[in-house]
Amino acid sequence: MPDLLSWRPRFPILGNKTYLINNSLGAMPASVANSLQEYMDLWATEGVVAWDTWLPEVANTAAILEDIIGAPRGSITMCQNVTNALAEILSCLEYDGPRNEIVHCAGEFPTVEYLLDGQRRLGARVARAGSDPLVFPADELLAAISDRTVLVVLSHVLFRTAELVDVRPFVEKAHKFGALVVLDAYQSMGAVPFDVVDLDVDFLVGGSVKWLCGGPGAGYLYAHPNIVDRLEPRLAGWFSHARPFGFEAPPIEYANGIERFTGGTPNIPAYYQAREGYKIIRQIGVEAVREHARRQTGLLVDGALARGFTVNSPRDFDRRGNHVTIDLPRAQQVKDELIRRGFVIDYRPGAGIRVAPHFYNTGEECIAVLDEMVAILRTAPL
Ligand SMILES: Cc1ncc(COP(=O)(O)O)c(C=O)c1O
Repeated sequence: MPDLLSWRPRFPILGNKTYLINNSLGAMPASVANSLQEYMDLWATEGVVAWDTWLPEVANTAAILEDIIGAPRGSITMCQNVTNALAEILSCLEYDGPRNEIVHCAGEFPTVEYLLDGQRRLGARVARAGSDPLVFPADELLAAISDRTVLVVLSHVLFRTAELVDVRPFVEKAHKFGALVVLDAYQSMGAVPFDVVDLDVDFLVGGSVKWLCGGPGAGYLYAHPNIVDRLEPRLAGWFSHARPFGFEAPPIEYANGIERFTGGTPNIPAYYQAREGYKIIRQIGVEAVREHARRQTGLLVDGALARGFTVNSPRDFDRRGNHVTIDLPRAQQVKDELIRRGFVIDYRPGAGIRVAPHFYNTGEECIAVLDEMVAILRTAPL
């Protein structure tokens, strides 16, 4: 086992907080300061010529992610967030034929559900499996896929409960019926090892804020190389063109491969920022992150149950991602008090307090946050 705790000094916040909310906002690597300085120095000294260095950074940053999930070189492009990435994918679809149904489930992140719901105005039918966001409706979701399905959208790890979804049956059925599959891997990227080619999904979307420790502003979109050149996103900008600097009149001639999804001017500083976290995750390896989480989340599940709290995450490690959702009396107020006392976690209505240790957290921190919950319930006048 690599000595993961030796990374702690490289994450400044760990020196003054018990930082356990890495499924929401991963800790900032100290090296972000130098990386952003490099970006600023280029702008300050080179002006417009900085683009010669900045533009290749888009593919360089994406390449780190490609390494992390076994994606072929040049199959990922950077964007701002999941909303943008999914909007790009949706803009390739037509809903005027019999195959016009999008299938998803009730536990998806709201940004996904809002976007999908909006497709109804364009003629799509949207089938939402399940109704309780704490229960993944596997059978219902699978049954909803048919020859009318154009797209299946599903999360790899559900953001409320941390349920880790076995995506294979959904991919197999979708492909059997000629539908495409989008995987929202935001909660698994950098936390749960997987190989995107092996999963055989058509698209993968995600962002950097969480386990990748990349901060806001850097999302990403993977499209399977076998289909990408057949896709024609309506949400296209000049960087989606085969020759952006030709400034040609429409209709657009799409760039080959994933670059057709680039859209407008890339968000360069966000990529300078995000690449620092990506590099650390690539260096450590997601397998090691996950192995660490086996022990840490095990402590949380067992410790929460032993203290009489409700655990709203699967008990079985193989069925959950790297956070644990714990419900307890007055959970929202307990969350506020924990933060006041230096324990950083969050709360999701109807689910509970989410505790998300990363590779740099200790087992003692996991126990300490549970003890603090007990102490708050006993003493604090909430
Ligand atoms: C599974 C999942 N998808 C998407 C998002 C966020 O979407 P966006 O990148 O559009 O803000 C989150 C959390 O912020 C999430 O947990």
